[in-house]
Amino acid sequence: MLVLGIETSCDETAAALVADQIILSNVIASQIDLHARFGGIVPEVAARKHVETIGYVIKEAIDSANKTPAEIEAIAVTAKHGLVGSLIVGVAAAKSLAYSLKVPLVGIHHVEGHIFANILSNPKMPMPHVCLTVSGGHTMLVYVKDFCQYEVLGNTLDDAAGEAFDKIAKFLNLGFPGGPIIDKLSAQGNKAAFHFPRPLWRSKTLDLSFSGLKTAVINMFKDKDKSKLPIPDIAASFQEAVVDVLVSKTLQAVRQKGVSTISVSGGVSTNRRLRGVFSQICRQEGYQVFFPQPTLHTDNAAMIAAAGNARLRYGDVAELDLSAVPSAPLKSVA
Ligand code: KG4
Ligand code: ZN
Repeated sequence: MLVLGIETSCDETAAALVADQIILSNVIASQIDLHARFGGIVPEVAARKHVETIGYVIKEAIDSANKTPAEIEAIAVTAKHGLVGSLIVGVAAAKSLAYSLKVPLVGIHHVEGHIFANILSNPKMPMPHVCLTVSGGHTMLVYVKDFCQYEVLGNTLDDAAGEAFDKIAKFLNLGFPGGPIIDKLSAQGNKAAFHFPRPLWRSKTLDLSFSGLKTAVINMFKDKDKSKLPIPDIAASFQEAVVDVLVSKTLQAVRQKGVSTISVSGGVSTNRRLRGVFSQICRQEGYQVFFPQPTLHTDNAAMIAAAGNARLRYGDVAELDLSAVPSAPLKSVA
């Protein structure tokens, strides 16, 4: 089935054509440069930019796949979880297209998209598995029982891990988005230079928390001259605390569920230290760990199309009253 995916939940305007889990096109117009000067995403600015860009991005996705609109068999759109003004743009575009092309429409939870980024990248990924999906908007541990069958095991109680990277980078005047910058700087730093807290690290819960860690870093250096701080050491020590928490909670989850496969997705899954530690520990402990292919780490519409394809196989079709929901639980298909 040829599915057009549309994703506008945050600051990427994205469209993709996916045919039976094969990516034919994957177009992403990033707004990073637009938001960088504010040190974070400005929701109103993001929504307006999506309005400007969405038509071109969809056209490019269809043209670069050498397809015509008439060949599209279904439309999948991120309808849940994200900035509401941004989501509305994608949902409105998807509904107009589904109505005019007379094809089924399916609404996707953004986190389900990130889970499918891994399934799309690694078609042989075993079920069930535990997925750690970690980005700027969410940090979640999900037991993926089967396609579109989920049990949420843990969630961040406050900031997402990517958000903590972004806020620490902003505090240290390093730029936006903070994750890739801190990742790079950490390579020259000493990860044991500072000991930052690892919230909920040793607790039985599979929930996570990053706000206390962020505040601890800020409190330690808030009265200091930033230009004289050992930035690579702070970056490496902060990153190590995040990685320790993410890896240990994920291992706790796989042990609890008795599975041996882990998938890691979302923007933070590109972090080199996180990948290195996961790979090493999984090798030692006999687990398999999967990461998405490079173009599917961060927000994209191919993952939304793949999730849509799977949901449509269960007959999960949305009506034209599909609406954008900024905060919603991840649900299994009925
Ligand atoms: O999945 P994504 O593109 O968008 C959301 O759903 O939020 O993730 C973006 C987040 C940002 O917070 C960014 O700083 C973080 O992913 N990120 C990283 C790295 N690359 C992106 N965090 C840590 N290390 C990285 N290399
Ligand atoms: Zn995302």
